[in-house]
Amino acid sequence: MKTIAIITGASGGLGRAFTALLAADPSLDEIWAVARHREGLEALASAYPGRIRPYMADLSRREEIAALGEVLKGEDVSIRYLINNAGYAKFCGWDELSPADSLAMLDLNIGGVVAMGLTCLPMMPSGSYLLNIASQASFQPLPWLNLYGSSKAFVRFYSRALGMELRERGVTVTAVCPGWMDTGLFDRARVESAHAITRFVGRFTPEQVAEKALADARKGRALSIYGWYPRLHHLIAKLLPQKLMMRLWLMQQGMK
Ligand SMILES: NC(=O)c1ccc[n+]([C@@H]2O[C@H](COP(=O)([O-])OP(=O)(O)OC[C@H]3O[C@@H](n4cnc5c(N)ncnc54)[C@H](OP(=O)(O)O)[C@@H]3O)[C@@H](O)[C@H]2O)c1
Repeated sequence: MKTIAIITGASGGLGRAFTALLAADPSLDEIWAVARHREGLEALASAYPGRIRPYMADLSRREEIAALGEVLKGEDVSIRYLINNAGYAKFCGWDELSPADSLAMLDLNIGGVVAMGLTCLPMMPSGSYLLNIASQASFQPLPWLNLYGSSKAFVRFYSRALGMELRERGVTVTAVCPGWMDTGLFDRARVESAHAITRFVGRFTPEQVAEKALADARKGRALSIYGWYPRLHHLIAKLLPQKLMMRLWLMQQGMK
């Protein structure tokens, strides 16, 4: 039986940083790198020869996750790490995305995370790790980043509760809450909008976030937050009313 890690969105910023770290772990036989586009996955496979199993799938589509589940069952694998990392944002107001595009974001950011977890957990023995990538955006309601922030709040709450349920099975669940990182997320998030957010305080690198996230997971932590700014935000959001937090966010963005 092979011991593997599965990383979704492995060809992009944070997923790529996780891949680099786990590719160097000799206890893993293979890293299954999942994304939609072949080129990014092939670049990963060349960067870490013999370590990567590229798997193309659109994880906003339930049937493609079911197909991945069948492949995994057929290969008799033990999953030590599942990192549900694929996700995206759109920087715009509630009426600047069509209903279909709004729901498509939830299909990946929420549906993909839940469906991948439910598919893989039966193959995750005691001592394995499920890391779900939430965000600093999960700490408070965020006008003009409304859907994305709410989807990440779901991921954070879901992961923490699931982690409690899985304690007896010995599976650690960690909600990772990065602040802003320089990745492909920004290009994908920018759309024509009268309400685009433009101020990104406290940026860190995906490598810093990934390293801390894996260290926290291995210590059995339910939450991983890297960097002074996201940690301060997390604390303040617990103390102040949500209405005031929303006003502070709008002030920081120079919006009304
Ligand atoms: N960057 C930030 O400031 C920031 C802050 C907090 C949290 N996060 C979270 O960190 C995670 C990683 O984002 P990133 O910043 O690294 O973004 P990124 O550079 O845009 O990478 C996204 C990755 O996800 C893959 N992907 C996108 N849609 C997919 C789909 N439908 N099915 C399968 N794979 C898909 C992309 O590859 P393909 O295009 O080939 O599919 C790519 O590998 C996300 O969950 C994001 O919300 C990011």
